[in-house]
Amino acid sequence: MLPFGPIPDALGRDVILSGDHADAVLAYCHAMGSKFGSPGYLRYLFGLPVNKALLSGYLMTQRALRETTPHACAEEIARTALELLSCLDGGREDGSVLDVFAGVGQMAYSYAKAGCRVQAVDNDRTTVDIAVNNMALAGLASVVEYRLADGPATLASAVNTDRRLSIVHLDPPWRGSYQYDLTRPFMLEDLAVNVQELVRLGLEGARLVVLNLPHNALSSQIDDLAALAGCNALVQYQYVADFPASFGQAPAYFFGRSGGGHGGTTGYQERHQRLTVDGQRVN
Ligand SMILES: C[S@@+](CC[C@H](N)C(=O)[O-])C[C@H]1O[C@@H](n2cnc3c(N)ncnc32)[C@H](O)[C@@H]1O
Repeated sequence: MLPFGPIPDALGRDVILSGDHADAVLAYCHAMGSKFGSPGYLRYLFGLPVNKALLSGYLMTQRALRETTPHACAEEIARTALELLSCLDGGREDGSVLDVFAGVGQMAYSYAKAGCRVQAVDNDRTTVDIAVNNMALAGLASVVEYRLADGPATLASAVNTDRRLSIVHLDPPWRGSYQYDLTRPFMLEDLAVNVQELVRLGLEGARLVVLNLPHNALSSQIDDLAALAGCNALVQYQYVADFPASFGQAPAYFFGRSGGGHGGTTGYQERHQRLTVDGQRVN
């Protein structure tokens, strides 16, 4: 039986997808693409089409199939974060990242490939075991340290012990089911954690805080969040080729403080970036 269907998200966490599920995952992508009007839709994981990634030995949970940051977006987020960082601090940052809700590792992978050292945290044992396998397979075990722990507590401890961080990455879990409700804006209250507090804390420990939210997040809330944290915000909308419009525009929010703002920008800025499915910029 295929591991897809009406499995509650909590159980989907424990359904591990491997090479045996490569064809089923491909069929799932095609079905999703057809349903949302983009028959060419295909997910990439760790630089490979997801079916080939699974056949190569990478693993994911069923829930991660919906939760994981698309490879193209992850690549762009890591690239942009490092560009912003070099502007914020004249290139003096060492590129250490704390990935607070790291999942099976797509963001950790992209940061590490971009030259960062990553401490990745997830509170789900199956997810962490899978991620450790994935980082080893990608040859990144020496630069990505995975820990089974509470993300917010790990962030608080890093800040309290004055651990030097360049980037705090937040891809927070949602409350309840991980289904998009496109009939209304996504509100910060729909998250299972207090993201305002995490952004504030993150900026105490790092030069840059990066936040992933669904594309229908209310931008005025982000504006308020930046004002509350006393920082600048850049929102970058990412359009991935062959992704349905409803999930091809996942925005990333970059929060930072410095005299000059985000590389010369100040206040709330928006940027739009088109991407190939394997993460190259299209100008
Ligand atoms: C949206 S997913 C992150 C996906 C990840 N960015 C990726 O690309 O694979 C959120 C993750 O947060 C984890 N999580 C939920 N609550 C947590 C907590 N309190 N501390 C750490 N991890 C948590 C979940 O297990 C899930 O893997």
